[in-house]
Amino acid sequence: MLDKKTKKVQKRYDRFSYFYDWIEEDFEKRTLDKWRKNLLKNLRGSVLEIGVGTGKNLKYYPKNAKVIGIDLSAKMIAKAKEKLKILNNKKIKLIGMDAQNLKFNDESFDYVVCTFVLCSVPYPVKVLKEMKRVVKKNGKILMLEHTKSRHFLIKILQHIHNPLTRFLFGFNVNRDTLENIKKAGLDYKYKNLAFFDVFKKIEARKQ
Ligand SMILES: C[S@@+](CC[C@H](N)C(=O)[O-])C[C@H]1O[C@@H](n2cnc3c(N)ncnc32)[C@H](O)[C@@H]1O
Repeated sequence: MLDKKTKKVQKRYDRFSYFYDWIEEDFEKRTLDKWRKNLLKNLRGSVLEIGVGTGKNLKYYPKNAKVIGIDLSAKMIAKAKEKLKILNNKKIKLIGMDAQNLKFNDESFDYVVCTFVLCSVPYPVKVLKEMKRVVKKNGKILMLEHTKSRHFLIKILQHIHNPLTRFLFGFNVNRDTLENIKKAGLDYKYKNLAFFDVFKKIEARKQ
């Protein structure tokens, strides 16, 4: 059973699915595509992608990786399935599921991937704990996220903008994701990618 907040996010992304692919198209082509490719190009073995959305990452998975993509929104997944049909990659499966309550056994995956999702889930620490549970002992959790800045002015701007981005696009621009990763009991390292310290590539592991 989904709680009220989670249902709200689900509805929001069901609506958002109709225009998600074109809303960030320019930024996607110039920047995000490169980051996605770089994050995923060397993956091997079993991979779980959390919040697969409309499937923007799918084309970057190496052909020998066995991937399961999950998402809360049936309509986002339907868009991802259209992309998967064109890719014709039989090693990728897409399933509707809540990342806060994953239906997989402990230590099932070599990699867990998550791009721009922790900003939109209602309970990010819960999701991170689930990711930690299902990744193998020496596995990796790979993320691309926009996070709360440490710079005073940017932090204020993020705080002011947050109600608008949450209302329009369903995500928060001021989530302290590094702090949440710590709270979930994971070790991590990261690289700042753009907008000072806002966009990050993060690699996390079990302690
Ligand atoms: C901003 S979109 C990112 C989509 C994709 N990962 C990308 O990089 O384009 C956030 C996605 O997270 C999904 N999501 C939000 N809460 C979720 C949850 N509790 N469980 C699974 N997916 C969730 C949304 O439905 C949406 O598809």
